[in-house]
Amino acid sequence: MLVNLTNSIKVVITGCSKGSIGALVAVALAAAAPHTLILLGRSISKVQPVIDEITAIDASTKVQFVTIELGDFDSVRKAAEEVKRVVGPKSIDYLM
Ligand SMILES: NC(=O)c1ccc[n+]([C@@H]2O[C@H](COP(=O)([O-])OP(=O)(O)OC[C@H]3O[C@@H](n4cnc5c(N)ncnc54)[C@H](OP(=O)(O)O)[C@@H]3O)[C@@H](O)[C@H]2O)c1
Repeated sequence: MLVNLTNSIKVVITGCSKGSIGALVAVALAAAAPHTLILLGRSISKVQPVIDEITAIDASTKVQFVTIELGDFDSVRKAAEEVKRVVGPKSIDYLM
């Protein structure tokens, strides 16, 4: 582990379907034990394998899926509200 991010870092990543660059980043970050990883995507079925991989690496990281269709502004607004709900009063640290 290069750095330990436990209890501090909250990261939001869009486009996390299995096999995507977003998924690779999420799995790589899991090794540094961030507090929260919020994975955005169009389909939970494509992201669930990535969530399972992250949980196997570090079960202490909170991993949350949020649905988003980036071509639909209503979906983007809804996803932003959901991210705010998951993160709570603190802000996110990184958005990719
Ligand atoms: N967060 C990021 O900055 C990020 C993440 C991933 C990729 N990318 C960029 O995308 C390009 C291709 O990357 P890749 O090889 O990983 O391709 P890829 O395998 O096609 O993955 C792209 C990701 O973006 C999602 N996506 C595409 N259009 C979307 C939309 N309209 N709404 C919501 N999600 C959408 C895909 O979801 P579906 O599986 O549902 O199509 C998938 O999770 C690269 O230029 C890369 O830099 C950026």
